[in-house]
Amino acid sequence: MSLSALPRHVAIIMDGNGRWAKKNAFSVMLGHRKGVEALRDIIRYSSDAGIQVLSLYAFSTENWTRPEAEVKALMGLIVEFFTSEIEELHRNKVKIRILGDVEALPDKARAAVISAMDTTKDNGGLQLNIALNYGARDEILRAVKSLAMKSADQLLQPQDITWADFAQELYTKDQPDVDLLIRTSGEQRLSNFLLCQSAYAELLFPETLWPEFTVSLYKDALATYQRRERRFGGRT
Ligand code: FPP
Repeated sequence: MSLSALPRHVAIIMDGNGRWAKKNAFSVMLGHRKGVEALRDIIRYSSDAGIQVLSLYAFSTENWTRPEAEVKALMGLIVEFFTSEIEELHRNKVKIRILGDVEALPDKARAAVISAMDTTKDNGGLQLNIALNYGARDEILRAVKSLAMKSADQLLQPQDITWADFAQELYTKDQPDVDLLIRTSGEQRLSNFLLCQSAYAELLFPETLWPEFTVSLYKDALATYQRRERRFGGRT
């Protein structure tokens, strides 16, 4: 694989844990647990391959409507992940950022993710974004409100606001746009994930359910990306 053409920013919607569990007559929670195993391998490979930013959709602003037991168990998995993986991630210089409203998370999950961000804040390796309690519309609203307040405080003139100003208000501030967005399980939707950052992203929708998404399939996706011709609205 040619290194120069690797996507700088890969975003993944890890879909299909529930269907994988159903297919195998397991509980939904075992599906999510297998999902975490798959994501461990993808993070490791992304870090080794030199991807700059990897964004994973772990929990959306809409996922709170799932059964209480599933929400509770997902939060538990998140705490477990940040507790058990932090040492290896830190050793590999992975830097963690949470995309989403951390304040609204249950106490243990909030403490675990804040500690993970703090431990890894000076690392210069893979930037790992975990979207938790994240929704793109919510992110856009926050950006608009922040710019409106700055404007009310005379810190900037509304007519002078640029896209760069707006981008600085997003959770992904200072990071490159998404180059490649993968959603597993065959569903072909963005589901409120990184809508601003994915304006020119290449989209891939492999049929594989997330717990079965292997590094080999990830490499295939990266190779497919490398064969795509990106024009960004131009005519090259
Ligand atoms: C979609 O599968 C997956 C989710 C809503 C959660 C993804 C979360 C994880 C993989 C684990 C937690 C993450 C971290 C970072 C520790 P689904 O349940 O919607 O699948 P279905 O559409 O087949 O029902």
